[in-house]
Amino acid sequence: MSSTRFRAVRPLARFRAVRPLARFRAAILSASTVMATIGLMAVVTTHAAAAATRYEAETAPAVCTGTIDSNHTGYSGSGFCNASNAVGAAAQFTVTASTAGSATLGVRYANGTTTARPADVLVNGTRVAGATFDGTGAWTTWLTTTLTVALVAGSNVIRFSPTTANGLPNVDALDVDLTGGSTAGTGRPTDPNIQYYGRWNTADPAYYSMGWAGGYLEARFTGSTIGVRQRNAIDLFYAVDGAAPQWRRTVSGDVTLATGLTGGSHTIRIGYRERAGSYAGDPVFGGLLLAAGAQTTAIGRPANFVEFIGDSITVGQPNADRPFTTYAWQTAEALGAAHSQVAQGGACLVSQDCYGMMDWFRRSSAWVSYDDWNFATYQATAVVINLGTNDVGHGVSTPVFQANYIVLLERLRQAYPNAEILAMGVFRARYVTETRNAVAARTAAGDAKVHFVDTTGWIDAATDTSDNVHPTDAGHAKITQRLRPILDQYI
Ligand code: GCU
Ligand code: CA
Repeated sequence: MSSTRFRAVRPLARFRAVRPLARFRAAILSASTVMATIGLMAVVTTHAAAAATRYEAETAPAVCTGTIDSNHTGYSGSGFCNASNAVGAAAQFTVTASTAGSATLGVRYANGTTTARPADVLVNGTRVAGATFDGTGAWTTWLTTTLTVALVAGSNVIRFSPTTANGLPNVDALDVDLTGGSTAGTGRPTDPNIQYYGRWNTADPAYYSMGWAGGYLEARFTGSTIGVRQRNAIDLFYAVDGAAPQWRRTVSGDVTLATGLTGGSHTIRIGYRERAGSYAGDPVFGGLLLAAGAQTTAIGRPANFVEFIGDSITVGQPNADRPFTTYAWQTAEALGAAHSQVAQGGACLVSQDCYGMMDWFRRSSAWVSYDDWNFATYQATAVVINLGTNDVGHGVSTPVFQANYIVLLERLRQAYPNAEILAMGVFRARYVTETRNAVAARTAAGDAKVHFVDTTGWIDAATDTSDNVHPTDAGHAKITQRLRPILDQYI
């Protein structure tokens, strides 16, 4: 079966180096103005204030480590927070939530410079998101950027903490919209309180199916017990209230995960071992098993979603505790971002007798045969590509690799108009010049959000891999240390 599939895609792959290039370049040029506009709208939106509560930055208990100014018109209330231009200077709000759940935050700000002023967003002391605070054109031009966070019932401290010496923009007010917080859910796969990450096939309402690797779901629930309904045997992992993930191997049917939970509501995260190679587990989610009378409530989604596109290294094979020991998972988690691993053992960039991710990334899983994924389901705010380790074994020449890498970058830009795209040189140093050149070509074509990541010296094949290719868990941790600060610059 697979040889038929490869034969079918092979002639196409020969053309891909040339034909789609011309077509996609034309499309990118004509679409660039539109994409720039859409990108701006996606990040900086005017908040629909109907259900929101406004908290002014100049009104206690808000804290501004700087001065309350009123010299730039257009602010609401009696002024705005001009925090000192330094890392650590902050604008902080204390907001009240009637119930636990997700809230949409609208930060009204002005940045009269042309340089973004990125900041960490901390809720009750924990970094949950990043905000970019792009230039607004003038200090008198106030825009609202939105993000979704989870709040606890009662008082919540929301702090914006700049990550560069330029400090924060001027901050006028925070709009808090709690409408997502109140609906009781059933825990079934269709329950809107359940947040899914990665690519899920939702065609069967009884069992949502995880495509690719590293997918997971999260929910908040009441009651003292929690379980999950499975179908056929699968290795699953779960984490209650943010604890370290625990495996339940080869389970099927109704699976109890935790009992004796006390207090109010709890959170659960569940994920599955990827279906790949000889492993034919059934990575489906059949719903949460709640205690009698218990319910789900809303849970926030991080502002950032990082999609990693790669091969077995990005899947984390063959390590037993993948996906959560991989550099992909660890890096995103360290930055408070959601994530997925659109990755497959043996995958290449180019579809030349190989799973070419330049084509396959448009699929909901590695076991469908056409481009069925709807990118409107979620938008990645960053994409990290780690491809090129396997193309050598399939005879991909360096010019063909470079030309097709450009095509992948163009296609990703179409799929995710506003994402930061990071192209990693692969650890085995294959096609690194071509990867770098492809990024340079896209930069020259006007894409300002594509970046080459030089991984030279990150790991030592002799000590940090199990077989000269695949990083050990410790090898993945080393990669995470290097990648985290780089990705942090962009999200
Ligand atoms: C100018 C502006 C201030 C602003 C500052 C800054 O001084 O008037 O309102 O806070 O720039 O760069 O942070
Ligand atoms: Ca300032």
